[in-house]
Amino acid sequence: MRSVLLGVGGHLPERVLTNAELAKRLDTSDEWIVERTGIRERRIAADDEKTSDLACVAALNAMNAAGREASDIDLVIVATTTPDLTFPATAARVQAELGINQGAAFDLQAVCSGFIFALATADNFLVRGQAKTALVIGAETFSRLLDWDDRGTCILFGDGAGAVILEAEDGPGDRGVISTFLRTDGRMHDLLYVDGGVSETNTVGKVRMVGNAVFRQAVEHISGAMLEACARAGLSIDAVDWFVPHQANQRILDGVARKLGIDAQKVVSTVAFHGNTSAASVPLALDVAVRDGRIKPGQLVLMEALGGGLTWGAALVRM
Ligand code: COA
Repeated sequence: MRSVLLGVGGHLPERVLTNAELAKRLDTSDEWIVERTGIRERRIAADDEKTSDLACVAALNAMNAAGREASDIDLVIVATTTPDLTFPATAARVQAELGINQGAAFDLQAVCSGFIFALATADNFLVRGQAKTALVIGAETFSRLLDWDDRGTCILFGDGAGAVILEAEDGPGDRGVISTFLRTDGRMHDLLYVDGGVSETNTVGKVRMVGNAVFRQAVEHISGAMLEACARAGLSIDAVDWFVPHQANQRILDGVARKLGIDAQKVVSTVAFHGNTSAASVPLALDVAVRDGRIKPGQLVLMEALGGGLTWGAALVRM
């Protein structure tokens, strides 16, 4: 039994926030942000636009691409750090909005690694025969967690959503999820966190980060996760056609590619246009490269991410 990726979809809110706009209110500049991060602009959800709203549009785009309807889907996982409400799960709202009236729906919290964790979770459900067709979404209104006076964090993040349809398939063929690797090291909790929460402060809190330490951890652990996912599949990293990384910072993408000797042309980068959208960034980048024809059926794609926790992981998929 294999989990075949049938379709992908993305969605960004309309409002564009450029570096120049940020530089009007913060001690920063377009040049600094572009040089240190590669980010040129990010999208910000409207006041009345919720994570579930973004998730539903991305999900419908993925369902259209996959040729699947609400009645086909029996598992919904939403990876998010910015749920509509503390409970119920945003996935429950998404399930109802989309008219999916069967199966389970739940949220998964692994911050920027959320989509990779959700993909691996869905794969396990499908391979175990506990669901047939899964809708896996990464969706965030991350702007709501930002301290807009902290130039070290607020320049990096944005809002958006991406989704895939995974379906259990039996029999011959080599399409689908080939291997996944997930890792959490809670000892690095304080490198990237939100200083509020239901149980500890009874507030929502704002993002806090030791940027340069996260940067170093990211290059090391992302490289390791990519090699591990390939090793688990018995494949060399040279066999990979496309790398679809978490879109955090262009310098992290470049650092990983250099470390592993990867041709930069094979790395899908969309960070310039939406910044770090946390759990949404991997499926958003995948969607762009599938739609523009770079990623073709049969090709081998390696996705990866690192985020708060720290969490990190990788997933190798034959499209
Ligand atoms: N504009 C101008 N200067 C800024 C700035 C900004 N937006 N943000 C930070 N700086 C300043 C710092 O205050 C510091 O000034 P100082 O030397 O006077 O103290 C200087 O730039 C260097 O700070 P440092 O944090 O070492 O810079 P950096 O090269 O590491 O870049 C990040 C900062 C945040 C861009 C970078 O560390 C980063 O991207 N880290 C990874 C973050 C990430 O991806 N997190 C999410 C993972 S999911």
